[in-house]
Amino acid sequence: MEQQTEKKKIVFSAIQPSGTITLGNYLGAVKNWVAMQDEFNCIYALADLHTITVRQEPAQFRKNIIDAYASILACGIDAEKSLFFMQSHVTTHAQLAWLLNCYTQFGELSRMTQFKDKSAKHADNVNAGLFTYPALMAADILLYQADMVPVGADQKQHLELTRNIAERFNGLYGNVFKVPEPYIPKNGARVMSLQDPTKKMSKSDENVNACVTLMDSPETIMKKFKRAVTDSEAKVRYAEGKDGINNLMTIYSAVTGLTFEQIEKDFDGKGYGDFKTAVGEAVVEELRPVRERYDKYIADKSYMQECYRKADEIAQKFSQRTLDKAMKKIGFVK
Ligand code: TYM
Repeated sequence: MEQQTEKKKIVFSAIQPSGTITLGNYLGAVKNWVAMQDEFNCIYALADLHTITVRQEPAQFRKNIIDAYASILACGIDAEKSLFFMQSHVTTHAQLAWLLNCYTQFGELSRMTQFKDKSAKHADNVNAGLFTYPALMAADILLYQADMVPVGADQKQHLELTRNIAERFNGLYGNVFKVPEPYIPKNGARVMSLQDPTKKMSKSDENVNACVTLMDSPETIMKKFKRAVTDSEAKVRYAEGKDGINNLMTIYSAVTGLTFEQIEKDFDGKGYGDFKTAVGEAVVEELRPVRERYDKYIADKSYMQECYRKADEIAQKFSQRTLDKAMKKIGFVK
């Protein structure tokens, strides 16, 4: 972060500490965060403010935050290269979110599919935060003048809204915010449930076999892949209607870098059993170092604290500049 003068592009992204991090989070977003660290100025946040849109049990929430911080470091985020801070420790996020709420339309927020999904799922707690969540997400991104935002496909709609809010604000007041581009991977942008491959893989799935987490043991990962739902054709090929196999091919491709054609060739004449074993083994090997590093970080809370305190402070200073500018443009008195 020190080399601002190099004019490296700025990357921003965030993840919610709402439970164990999944293979979907990893392949859709975090793997790219890691890969982007050398080329760009990377700023990442643990989006803990977002998480309370769904009710959290305090002790468990506290534990999830620390676990998620350790997991992201374990995935390969290097605190020396990238800023990795806690959203709730940096006061500008809630402040800019309020301002942006006043530049975001009710109709726009009503169209967000995540709001529709989550309000159906938590019908007893359709709170205002759940509704205005995209304005907070826009604030996260716009505070850092981010050029690129690496996310999975499910966040694309929120990114489009962020761009609209930024353009609207800039249209009124001049160039205050950089209009960010989404960065969505070709493979892994939408990892599906292993039990119902028409649904997104999600940590909140009731069926434990549907979702692989970064903390699953190798045996558990193998078991989940062996039980993955497929079809009756018994041919490894990517095609419409073969959601289960398409998903396994996507995961295998995202982990190994092989193209679909190469995978089809390699598994020509082989059954689904062999293919599921290969996918499981590739994922086990990909996640093995992550689990090992996690054990090291989680045992060293003071190191993690040192990392986020440093990052929080830099993020606060950096983002304050954007907040001050936006407030001045609106007409607030300093
Ligand atoms: P969250 O915490 O739900 O997910 C974190 C990242 O993981 C991606 N992802 C997936 N990718 C592929 N397949 C899946 N099954 C899958 N599930 C999740 C998500 O697309 C995301 O990139 N609102 C965000 C967090 C956030 C944020 C931000 C992101 C807050 N502020 C600013 C970017 C920029 C969220 O809830 O992600």
